[in-house]
Amino acid sequence: MNIEQLVRRCVVKVKPYQPGKPIEEVKRELKLQNVYKMASNENALGPSPKALKALKTSICNIHQYPDANAFYLKKALAKKYKLFPENIIIGNGSDEIITLVLRSFINKGDEVIIAEPTFLIYKLAATLADAKVISVPLKAFRYDLPAMRKRINTKTKIIFIANPDNPTGTYVTDTEVSDFLKNIPPTVIVFFDEAYFEFAQKRDYPKTMQYIRKGNIIVSRTFSKVYGLAGLRIGWAAAGREMIGYLNQVREPFSVNSLAQIAAQAALKDQKHLQKTKQLVREQMQYLTKEFKALNLFFVPSVTNFILVNIGINTELVTKKLLSKGIIVRNMQGWGLKNFIRVTIGKPKENKLLILELRKIKGGA
Ligand SMILES: Cc1ncc(COP(=O)(O)O)c(C=O)c1O
Repeated sequence: MNIEQLVRRCVVKVKPYQPGKPIEEVKRELKLQNVYKMASNENALGPSPKALKALKTSICNIHQYPDANAFYLKKALAKKYKLFPENIIIGNGSDEIITLVLRSFINKGDEVIIAEPTFLIYKLAATLADAKVISVPLKAFRYDLPAMRKRINTKTKIIFIANPDNPTGTYVTDTEVSDFLKNIPPTVIVFFDEAYFEFAQKRDYPKTMQYIRKGNIIVSRTFSKVYGLAGLRIGWAAAGREMIGYLNQVREPFSVNSLAQIAAQAALKDQKHLQKTKQLVREQMQYLTKEFKALNLFFVPSVTNFILVNIGINTELVTKKLLSKGIIVRNMQGWGLKNFIRVTIGKPKENKLLILELRKIKGGA
């Protein structure tokens, strides 16, 4: 029996996610003492110290299954964001919530509208859910909401909006979102993915939680970025009670482990770590953009903890050269962004090293 004949057709269509090598392996192969990962938009300062402390005291309970309802975390989030726990779902990263929405609402052949390029998981998960993916190009590195609206038809089921967007770091404004939502039929689910919400300190950044009472709107957030818990895999979303009910129906009960729940509750209370992280990103974003300008490099102004920059030369070579110096950045060539790399804002030492090496590369060294 040929296994390829058995596998679902949509699985064959998917280009698998390409994981990077473990840092220890990179160090060993390239004989490097230090390797700086500036490729996955993690928190350069590490996890919240309060989360670490809470983890240490809870680790002895891992023989027990986690709380399938994440009671205390939902309660804490509900209090912080003025929601009801019934409006909240916790996921194994916000990635899981993307999958749950697709699993709950897509029938074969339904259409999902995404931007191009944007966060890769929407296309991957929608394809695996047997949806037809409709891609709408960005306009000047920003989501083109009117163009996305025009692609809605009777088959449209879900629209994904990464706000701020990855990989561009741009955002759509409150006016753009409210205009867009005025024209969305109630049969279409709009998924606002706000993984970088905490970094987007802009007056006109939309308050999307206000729309969840419409019933067809969902807003996701994560503990992977500003809270520094990417390795534990925990994210959450708010939506109408009815939608949350269906998402829970398709969710595996223990997908969110107990340590992740404990760490997330502690991290939520760690205002100091949150402020320190935001300050680092603000200051170092200023440093990097100043240096990019001095190097005559085009970059996309970003409201996140990463930045998309055009190196002006083949990024395959640039990323290899940077890697040989222990700096891992994301090559954006495969995303239709020729000559672009995406850099996660690091600590001052890491950013300085990056600029030093880019200067050498641009100078032909
Ligand atoms: C836009 C966006 N959404 C969601 C995620 C996934 O986050 P999580 O770690 O919560 O699954 C990422 C991670 O890079 C992202 O960039």
